[in-house]
Amino acid sequence: MPLIRKAKTPDAGQLTKLAEGTFRDTFEAMNTPENMNLHCETHYSEEIQAREILDPEMTTLVCEQQEELIGYAQLRCGEPPPCVHATRPFEILRLYVAREWHGKGIAQGLMAESIALAEAQGSDQIWLGVWERNPRAISFYKKFGFVEVGDHVFPLGTDPQRDIIMVCPNKLSQPGAQPIVQRGRNLFEPLPPPHRAASVAPVKSNR
Ligand SMILES: CC(C)(COP(=O)(O)OP(=O)(O)OC[C@H]1O[C@@H](n2cnc3c(N)ncnc32)[C@H](O)[C@@H]1OP(=O)(O)O)[C@@H](O)C(=O)NCCC(=O)NCCS
Repeated sequence: MPLIRKAKTPDAGQLTKLAEGTFRDTFEAMNTPENMNLHCETHYSEEIQAREILDPEMTTLVCEQQEELIGYAQLRCGEPPPCVHATRPFEILRLYVAREWHGKGIAQGLMAESIALAEAQGSDQIWLGVWERNPRAISFYKKFGFVEVGDHVFPLGTDPQRDIIMVCPNKLSQPGAQPIVQRGRNLFEPLPPPHRAASVAPVKSNR
């Protein structure tokens, strides 16, 4: 049975392959190879993912099936865009599942654990950015009660794209984790405190 747990540094290599592979699977049909390569070169490498795993401001969850990573989510606290009103915001920065596992409850499990982490951190608002041309992800987020509140520009390589900003107003208690996914024992180890530096500009959302 797939297991969701926090990522550890030895996961960095596999996480990089999963992250770049799922990003390419999701977006390459609608973008130029140049822009895809530009983005991937600057966002995916074992060193980058190792840094993200160790980043105290970020939580990386992975879903593992027989020692293979099949999905992941990255979460962080920080200043949201102006259209998100919250005192303790919580961003779902990335949520990706390997294509052969779509529609099988893995994404629901990752979302349920993300929401649980937001609750554990005392967050009052969960938010995310999603490309306007990603209808499956938008449908998925709507199923969890997310609604559109604004947009921002996400540069994919040299292409400025419109990402929809969504929040989940009725959080924090939505569909539970599907039985297909079990929770790793390390999931609720002490979390970093919510971080909000008063004079910091809004963080750049990722995809
Ligand atoms: C987005 C993602 C995490 C959702 O996980 P999933 O397992 O596919 O989710 P589900 O199947 O439960 O839900 C997707 C919904 O979209 C619907 N859907 C499927 N294809 C669709 C399409 N082309 N257009 C619109 N809706 C679509 C599904 O029918 C389903 O709704 P339903 O349960 O009411 O039928 C997963 O598809 C994924 O990893 N995609 C690639 C990465 C990605 O886009 N991540 C988000 C970046 S912001």
